[in-house]
Amino acid sequence: MKAAVLISGRGSNLQSLIDAQKSGDLHAEIVKVVSNVPDVQGLQRAEEAGIETAVLDHKNFEDRESFEDALHALLADAGIDLVCLAGFMRILTDNFVSRWRDRLINIHPSLLPAFKGLHTHERAIEAGVRFSGCTVHFVRPAMDDGPIIVQAAVPIHADDTPDDLAKRVLAEEHKIYPLAVRLIADGRIRVAGDRVAIENAVSPDTALINPAN
Ligand code: GRF
Repeated sequence: MKAAVLISGRGSNLQSLIDAQKSGDLHAEIVKVVSNVPDVQGLQRAEEAGIETAVLDHKNFEDRESFEDALHALLADAGIDLVCLAGFMRILTDNFVSRWRDRLINIHPSLLPAFKGLHTHERAIEAGVRFSGCTVHFVRPAMDDGPIIVQAAVPIHADDTPDDLAKRVLAEEHKIYPLAVRLIADGRIRVAGDRVAIENAVSPDTALINPAN
């Protein structure tokens, strides 16, 4: 399976996918990394791994449609089977999303459907919830919406800053994104309506309670 990763910045999730590929755990090949922002760290990570990169700077396009047409052509020409959004900070139109339906996934730093959008960690702390986490999901036209593939939950500690929580969540993002790609690459995923069914999935049977006492 040929994958492309779309980024706008740091690219630590991209790195987790590259590392999984290197160790043979991804079961997919990342053949393209595309950034809509020039000179970002993620592009450097791709180059270091010997992966082809492309910069499609949205500022050079007249409108969203022409930007997305170029993006679509690039992905189609490269024979991409799966597009992974990894910190890609452009909203995609319904048209692009439906062209890549069930072949387009995203990672979001909250336990969806809670805390869609930005500043998830600040908002989770403010809301006083005891757990947050991250989600890999298929992309649908509405923002941070779509069938959920994998989630990881982490506790929120009483004295957490948003940065503390971001670090705890990010460590799990780096585990669940490669896992989700592998499940898809292995053909174990089926999208049925709003839900994802996973063949032979093993779920933990323990509950987390926070505070523990
Ligand atoms: C991650 O927190 C991801 O969940 C969100 O954007 C951030 C990207 O970080 N969508 P990085 O560029 O992968 O380091």
